[in-house]
Amino acid sequence: MASGRRPRAPRPPREDRGGGWTGAEFEVTVGPVAHGGHCVARHEGRVVFVRHGLPGERVVVRVTEDRHPGFCRADAVEVLEPSPHRVERPCPHSGPGRCGGCDWQHVAPEEQRRLKAAVVREQLARLAGLSDVDVTVEELPGGPLRWRSRARFAVDRSGAAGLRRHRSHDVVVLDDCPITEENAARAVLARRWPGAGAVDVSVDATGAVTTTRLDRRGHPTSTRVVRPGGDLPAEPDGRAERHAGGRDWEVEGTGFWQVHPAAADALVAAVTAFAGVRAGETVLDLYAGAGLFGGALAPAAGPDGRVVCVESDAGACAAADANLADLPQAEVWQGEVDPEGLAGLLEELGTPPDVVVLDPPRAGAGAAVSRLLAGTGARAVVYVACDPASLARDVAAFGAAGYRLAGLRAFDAFPMTAHVECVALLVPA
Ligand SMILES: C[S@@+](CC[C@H](N)C(=O)[O-])C[C@H]1O[C@@H](n2cnc3c(N)ncnc32)[C@H](O)[C@@H]1O
Repeated sequence: MASGRRPRAPRPPREDRGGGWTGAEFEVTVGPVAHGGHCVARHEGRVVFVRHGLPGERVVVRVTEDRHPGFCRADAVEVLEPSPHRVERPCPHSGPGRCGGCDWQHVAPEEQRRLKAAVVREQLARLAGLSDVDVTVEELPGGPLRWRSRARFAVDRSGAAGLRRHRSHDVVVLDDCPITEENAARAVLARRWPGAGAVDVSVDATGAVTTTRLDRRGHPTSTRVVRPGGDLPAEPDGRAERHAGGRDWEVEGTGFWQVHPAAADALVAAVTAFAGVRAGETVLDLYAGAGLFGGALAPAAGPDGRVVCVESDAGACAAADANLADLPQAEVWQGEVDPEGLAGLLEELGTPPDVVVLDPPRAGAGAAVSRLLAGTGARAVVYVACDPASLARDVAAFGAAGYRLAGLRAFDAFPMTAHVECVALLVPA
């Protein structure tokens, strides 16, 4: 061992293929940030993914998980030489072994953005072979706390709500979550939810707070809306009002909408600028949700243009139908964006799209869908991504199919967490 205390690990369980270090404590110098809210250190020839540390720090780590021959996971439990970017955590529930909701509470917000930029750069280099992409993560207005307008809280067997410990099913019971909008946090955390498995909460532009109770299998069982003026029981499809891109939007109470209140506007502006839609063009808005990007792009396509929004969720399609009713060039198609669904959709479309916008879930669109989209020859593909690794993999697939990355914006839409939202422009090479 190079330095520090020796591992004092219990014998590994049979399924444990690691080095038997779980519970061990030793000193490391923390290296670069990695995807997932941790930094990389090395100890006795093995990689240690360190949470709660910062690059350059000398820390004592405690190994929390050691199941893999090549690496283990650890928390920095004592800081011997702190980084100048380390700050007091604003949330009393965060820290080693505590609530797993945030990753960077101990980091100054501007440094959080530099860490996220480094992660996006590294993912594009490693997974897409693009070594020279200039990445800046832009701050959104509103500060690093109370930005979460939509959240899912877990409920323990006693009916108390909170968030899960990192990589655990344990619920850490909370009396507040300082990154969540105050009324939304209070609506869930100030009461008990006997028998529930989780509670979804959202607060809309009018201040209405919607809570949806989920059973232990994740199925919604009841919804309640508390409006600033009073408490009204809601239908299960209770609506939330949002405002973005100069338009009013209605979405399902706790259905998909950008979590940060400033994110939808920032993304609409970035997507609109990258897409540069011209009159008469055909635009595909894939994974369209309530129609946010399609609705924003339709006016530029004009009366001779066509904007087709594709979304799999029936509730989101109904919301998109209502939201886009005043835009005759916009259509909402309910369907799956997968290789088979997309091939059928492109055939039905008749003419190839000029512009494609896609905003897939965390796993990305995948190589097959990316290849099909590249095959359309669209003059611009605007890819909105909440996971830089999925984005980088799909950028690689587009690259192999003749497209190049021509622009990238990144937004700090999830302060205190390791998450970052990217908007990429791909054009035929
Ligand atoms: C990240 S959200 C984006 C929504 C919208 N673009 C917005 O910003 O409000 C992803 C959306 O894709 C939908 N979705 C997920 N998988 C899909 C699939 N295979 N085909 C079509 N839509 C899908 C989800 O229901 C969700 O509304």
